[in-house]
Amino acid sequence: MTALSTILSRRTIRFYKPLPVKADDLRDLLNGARVTSCAANLQTLRYRVVTEPALAEKVFGTLAWAGYIRPKRTPVWGVNAPTAYIVVLAPDDNATHHADAGAAIQSMQIIATEKGLGCCWLGAVDRKVLATILSLNEKQHILYVVAIGIPDEQPTQVDISATDDIKYFLDDNGRLNVPKIKLDELVTWN
Ligand SMILES: Cc1cc2nc3c(=O)[nH]c(=O)nc-3n(C[C@H](O)[C@H](O)[C@H](O)COP(=O)(O)O)c2cc1C
Repeated sequence: MTALSTILSRRTIRFYKPLPVKADDLRDLLNGARVTSCAANLQTLRYRVVTEPALAEKVFGTLAWAGYIRPKRTPVWGVNAPTAYIVVLAPDDNATHHADAGAAIQSMQIIATEKGLGCCWLGAVDRKVLATILSLNEKQHILYVVAIGIPDEQPTQVDISATDDIKYFLDDNGRLNVPKIKLDELVTWN
């Protein structure tokens, strides 16, 4: 796969097979995040990996899924929920940390896609509860959670115009459709 074909084929996954993710695969994702571009090369992000089932269930309980179609793409713990979680941490909440996290998470998503894994980047996190669950201190601010697992859905992309509805939706077959605005409507040259 080329980088472009991987990026084009990646979709957010919210339904998973109830199977563990190999630790070596998670290490590959994290290693990609480690060397990703970051502001001033400060490397302030830290990663908390949760795979132990009892703790993972608690992390799962702090997350909200697919707001446009809730609860139709909300996974159920032990049935179709992701089994691995990477909590992306920074010393505080500022725009540069969010930019660094965005780049690092995209690296992880690309590597996961190449491995046949699925991911969901989650910002709808009950950060206060999760910080307590993970015994974080005040210098460990939760930016995002990345949920990872073996995909059990195959969302598809549909091209739309900039004036169309951008909300993802389920089609008649229950497949998630993700609208993306056509390139020519996003870009101007010179
Ligand atoms: C910053 C950010 C926060 C997100 N937060 C959530 C979330 O809390 N819950 C969720 O189900 N998806 C979340 N997503 C996933 C988006 O809904 C998803 O990327 C979008 O619908 C486009 O789908 P695609 O990733 O398949 O292109 C988030 C994505 C980003 C980039």
